[in-house]
Amino acid sequence: MNEVRFMVNGQPVEVTVSARLSLADLLRDRLGLTGTHLGCEHGVCGACSVLVDGRSVRACLMLAVQAEGRMITTVEGLHRDGRWRDLQQAMAERHALQCGFCTPGFLVCAAELLGQPGPLDETGVREALSGNVCRCTGYASIVQAVLDTARGRSSTPP
Ligand code: FES
Ligand code: FES
Repeated sequence: MNEVRFMVNGQPVEVTVSARLSLADLLRDRLGLTGTHLGCEHGVCGACSVLVDGRSVRACLMLAVQAEGRMITTVEGLHRDGRWRDLQQAMAERHALQCGFCTPGFLVCAAELLGQPGPLDETGVREALSGNVCRCTGYASIVQAVLDTARGRSSTPP
């Protein structure tokens, strides 16, 4: 067993884990952060995406012990951080989800994308979100929601 200390959504966490436990299982089963969804569990669908030190990572492919000293943000952390209300609002207005299973992964990866400097276009959004699978929406509404958010931010003075 291994002691691991890291931050999740701004809160310090200290847990003892087996060397084989995935970060996704730790977040969901031990920390109750069930917004991190598990679909394929082998790095294909993107539903389990979380931010690790600001970069999106598939939590099903990362071991919990690798979280030592890191800053993890899950979809629940985005919800608590008011900066992402515009993205959530745009997703709702564009009807960018149906069953919602993929939505946490899309929100996390879109948050990473929107946090980067420079203008966004449809091609860039589609490319950035190409690692996230949705079986319901056809993607167009998700892409438009991200573009709406980017447009809203560029027209809002800092
Ligand atoms: Fe991790 Fe699908 S559950 S990529
Ligand atoms: Fe159902 Fe994306 S909304 S999988």
